[in-house]
Amino acid sequence: MTDTAPTTTFDFAGKVAIVTGSAGGIGQAYAEALAAAGAAVVVADIDADKAAAVAEGIRSSGGSAIGVAVDVADPASAEAMAASAVDGFGGIDYLVNNAAIFGGMKLDLLLTVDWEYLNRFLSVNMLGALNCVRACYPAMKARGGGAIVNQSSTAAYLYAGFYGLAKAGVNSITQQLAHELGGNNIRTNAIAPGPIDTEASRTVVPDAFMQPILAGLALKRMGQTSDLVGMCLFLLSDEASWITGHVFNVDGGQIVRP
Ligand SMILES: NC(=O)c1ccc[n+]([C@@H]2O[C@H](COP(=O)([O-])OP(=O)(O)OC[C@H]3O[C@@H](n4cnc5c(N)ncnc54)[C@H](O)[C@@H]3O)[C@@H](O)[C@H]2O)c1
Repeated sequence: MTDTAPTTTFDFAGKVAIVTGSAGGIGQAYAEALAAAGAAVVVADIDADKAAAVAEGIRSSGGSAIGVAVDVADPASAEAMAASAVDGFGGIDYLVNNAAIFGGMKLDLLLTVDWEYLNRFLSVNMLGALNCVRACYPAMKARGGGAIVNQSSTAAYLYAGFYGLAKAGVNSITQQLAHELGGNNIRTNAIAPGPIDTEASRTVVPDAFMQPILAGLALKRMGQTSDLVGMCLFLLSDEASWITGHVFNVDGGQIVRP
């Protein structure tokens, strides 16, 4: 378990959650918190070994989890992930679309980034969320409804190249899917985190760049994965039963939006 996994008062006993990109970082914290709150969790990631290790960690702490290999950009792979949840745990209630190419991503400009790389990046970081929703929503509908949380970023509102472009797309997908899925009692929201201390963010944003970013926050420290968990669980829970189509910043006061 991560050091920062918080205790929670939410009760997700009997619920089934899929968290993509949960082999480490923020997704791992979401998966562990959902399991600690009683959900059966599918730990889905392109890194199958790490996903299996996170699932094993949850089981050894008394939770219920399976590790599943998925490429969120691939429709057949997303279908197989959804089938694993249904076969393993009997259905799907929650989907957290957290996976992204982030740790080790190329730092380049829109005008110069390799075209093939850009297409793959957008397929994973933007359309990956839509692809997983398309694979999972029939099982949610069969349960009478469900909830989806997409992982955006404050980069959607800042100058942040193709990374921000993908996250702006995630915000639009969130808004549109709220309408397309609302009739099935499936809610769709997004979280836009500010800078969060993960192994990945340390590789992408060197300390010399991070310090001025932190100085510009209202709360002058990096976020921890535990800072995001409360919003994720709230948005999935019935406490948020009339909230859909929104993007919530959890960012230490980085950006104030109208
Ligand atoms: N750390 C931050 O500062 C920060 C801030 C805002 C938003 N985010 C977003 O939060 C999410 C998690 O970030 P993190 O810092 O934990 O990074 P991370 O790199 O640890 O997490 C991303 C996970 O996605 C997985 N992944 C990559 N491609 C995949 C694919 N095609 N299919 C399935 N899984 C795939 C990776 O293996 C990894 O486990 C990302 O969506 C990121 O964009 C991070």
